[in-house]
Amino acid sequence: MGYAMAERLAKGGCDLAVWNRTKEKAEPLAKYGAKVVNQLEELSTRDILFVMVSTYEDVKEVIGKALAGRGKPKMVVECSSISLDGSAELRTILKEKGVEYLAAPVSGNAKVIKAGKLTFVVSGPKPAYEAARPYLDMMGTGSSYVGEGELARIAKICHNVMLGVVIQNLCEITILAQKAGMPRHAFLDFLNKSVMGSMFTRYKTPTLVNLDFHVTFTPKLLRKDLDLGLDAGREFEVPMPLTSLTRDLLQQMIGRGMTEQDFSTLLLVQAQASGLELKPENVPVGDGLST
Ligand SMILES: NC(=O)c1ccc[n+]([C@@H]2O[C@H](COP(=O)([O-])OP(=O)(O)OC[C@H]3O[C@@H](n4cnc5c(N)ncnc54)[C@H](OP(=O)(O)O)[C@@H]3O)[C@@H](O)[C@H]2O)c1
Repeated sequence: MGYAMAERLAKGGCDLAVWNRTKEKAEPLAKYGAKVVNQLEELSTRDILFVMVSTYEDVKEVIGKALAGRGKPKMVVECSSISLDGSAELRTILKEKGVEYLAAPVSGNAKVIKAGKLTFVVSGPKPAYEAARPYLDMMGTGSSYVGEGELARIAKICHNVMLGVVIQNLCEITILAQKAGMPRHAFLDFLNKSVMGSMFTRYKTPTLVNLDFHVTFTPKLLRKDLDLGLDAGREFEVPMPLTSLTRDLLQQMIGRGMTEQDFSTLLLVQAQASGLELKPENVPVGDGLST
């Protein structure tokens, strides 16, 4: 995710410096004009520090190191999917250091970013949002400002709870349609043209039809988001029965060691549970992203 976001900023002509723990992964960004640095501390003098890692623990670690440099950025824009509590703790840490902070989680995978369709949901001080907005726009189709504090985190958690529940349901109905006798591509063609079709169902269709489970989002990262959703449900006293069930189904998949491929391998679990042996259909289907 971080790579694809940085690529858009670099191609947009930003004065960009990039750090990634595994430096080789960031190195190709140099051809678009980005400076790939060796030490996180080297980012401390930049105006805006965008962060895209995995969990809150990782966020805390990288921001701690970045702020140990000789300068301090005017603003941190934190884009990973993290908890409300983590985000609030980070706000306190950054406030003490006099650094502005926007919570700015995203919707879309790396392919979506490449297609220019990434979206952000943002919370924090409005003037900071206005200052960061041109760069957010450069990375996708825009941002939604939802208010002060950590509100963007809850919006993102809600979004990813929907992602988990929808992919599970999409796998269930695709297997049902196939077991009843129709090819997956034919069923999904109908679904995608219908009012129930979405950018998501369309861009997952090639995977579900041709079974290329090259990872876009890991099962463990999805489990993290469902757990964040369930935690939020407890905090705000909101029952989340579909989220609980989906989390357990995902856990069964992770427990079987299915952790390295895409989260949509839920399709394979559903097929096994239905006594169906899946084969790629080898039918060219569009992902709805490329025009
Ligand atoms: N993939 C999606 O579709 C998607 C969509 C929306 C939001 N998100 C969220 O975006 C975030 C990133 O997701 P992703 O799919 O890009 O994950 P990913 O492919 O697993 O990449 C994680 C990145 O974080 C770095 N990282 C992790 N822990 C670190 C640490 N302790 N110190 C330094 N660097 C660390 C990794 O560095 P290395 O390269 O060295 O491993 C890598 O660059 C997550 O919070 C995820 O929930 C993902």
